[in-house]
Amino acid sequence: MVLLTGVTGFVGKVVLHELLRRHAELGVERVLVIVRADSHALARARFRAKVSQSPCFAAEPQGWEKRIHVLAGDVTQPACGLDGDVLAQVRSDVTHAIHCAASVEFSLPLPSATDINVTGALHALELAKSCAHIASFVGVSTAYVTPHESTQERAPLVAHERLVPLPRDADLLYGAIRAGQMEAKRLLAETGHPNTYTFTKCLAEHLLVRRAGKLPITILRPSIVSASRIFPMPGWIDSPAAFAAFVALIGTGRLRVVAGDPDVRLDIVPCDEVARRAALAAFAPPSPSAPRIVHAVAGLEGASPLRLCREQIVAHFEAQPDDGRPRLTWVGRRGVRFRLEHGLRHEIPLRAAAAWSMLALRSDRARMALRLLERQRAIHREFSYFTHATFDFRSSMPLDPPLEPAPYLKAVCAGVQRHLLRPRSRAARPARGRPSSYTSMEH
Ligand SMILES: NC(=O)c1ccc[n+]([C@@H]2O[C@H](COP(=O)([O-])OP(=O)(O)OC[C@H]3O[C@@H](n4cnc5c(N)ncnc54)[C@H](OP(=O)(O)O)[C@@H]3O)[C@@H](O)[C@H]2O)c1
Repeated sequence: MVLLTGVTGFVGKVVLHELLRRHAELGVERVLVIVRADSHALARARFRAKVSQSPCFAAEPQGWEKRIHVLAGDVTQPACGLDGDVLAQVRSDVTHAIHCAASVEFSLPLPSATDINVTGALHALELAKSCAHIASFVGVSTAYVTPHESTQERAPLVAHERLVPLPRDADLLYGAIRAGQMEAKRLLAETGHPNTYTFTKCLAEHLLVRRAGKLPITILRPSIVSASRIFPMPGWIDSPAAFAAFVALIGTGRLRVVAGDPDVRLDIVPCDEVARRAALAAFAPPSPSAPRIVHAVAGLEGASPLRLCREQIVAHFEAQPDDGRPRLTWVGRRGVRFRLEHGLRHEIPLRAAAAWSMLALRSDRARMALRLLERQRAIHREFSYFTHATFDFRSSMPLDPPLEPAPYLKAVCAGVQRHLLRPRSRAARPARGRPSSYTSMEH
């Protein structure tokens, strides 16, 4: 039986799909999923609502859910929150573990990010180690654990499949954070990580490797995960985070200025390639005591230059507009010109729209304008690090066939439109008709 965490998330669902698709070949009879909820019954209800009813599983044969055993749990708790007979059963049944649960929020406070991404990973590992017949553990990390020292540097940063050194011992750092003795800003300045997410993933890798003992473990490092190439269907995506946020906001005219070097290449990897590697890593584990690190990436050749992303997104949504047309006017590195463009195209019109809406006693519209403005600011604040430097992730398991950026970007745009924008537009439309103004486009 395979233990899977994070199944309600984007990657977790596609990993589950992969395990079901290849169950005969891999010998997967059942998958045990841990879902956050107050009781096992509520966990099953959440699983039905978030997973069973997802289009990701629409083509599964009837009765596929019988292969899934849903338990309520929380990775921040010891033994992932399991106890008693349920825990004993898990310990006797589980043979492989794939840990996908995490918080992908970049700006979570350090203690919370550590709780979910480090303590959570260690609890999943300890649970796996306590299973009598465990054969392997896969921990999903991120390729961005390697910090880019300077985003002014134009040459790609080469990142290898090995642990990234930390300035201090991993256990000491972990202990100090848990004791509340670490200040996030100072720590990130010391390690070079852009946010608490990539730092905590890096710390988790060190501790997982250190505590694996004789259990064969693989650290799987995806880059920016986006729409699937093939499974469960071309273009499948259900996370509005990361690159999908750019596609949706640019495509619908809500992002008019982007802070980023047009020549920078973004490493965007299809979700099904990540899932394929997760299953492979679980069922073809490394030798005991030899932890393995594997990138799940497009690679430099398959990475998408920002200028091509711009062209493809605009072309797609010009040809098939959603609720609003692309109005992207400027893409460039941070600096005076960026501040000017951002001020002219985002700050001034949206603040004016908010003020006007207040005068017209439409506080709902004013709030929407300010929310959109905050989103634009957050995108620039949080993603600038990734749009100003090219990472060259070396991979022992390159994509086969290699990714062709232009057709893949087309598939991503179509996927974002079909799976993220259209369902939201449908849900928003009946009450207030088709939105027409800049501000009303923010759902
Ligand atoms: N998406 C990317 O671009 C990307 C890139 C590189 C690496 N990754 C890695 O891939 C993995 C999956 O990411 P994702 O994009 O699928 O994220 P996601 O869509 O946000 O899903 C996160 C999953 O983790 C679960 N979770 C969070 N806290 C939990 C807790 N305390 N106990 C149990 N479950 C918990 C969530 O459950 P709830 O439904 O209860 O919140 C959800 O199922 C993560 O390890 C992430 O770091 C993602």
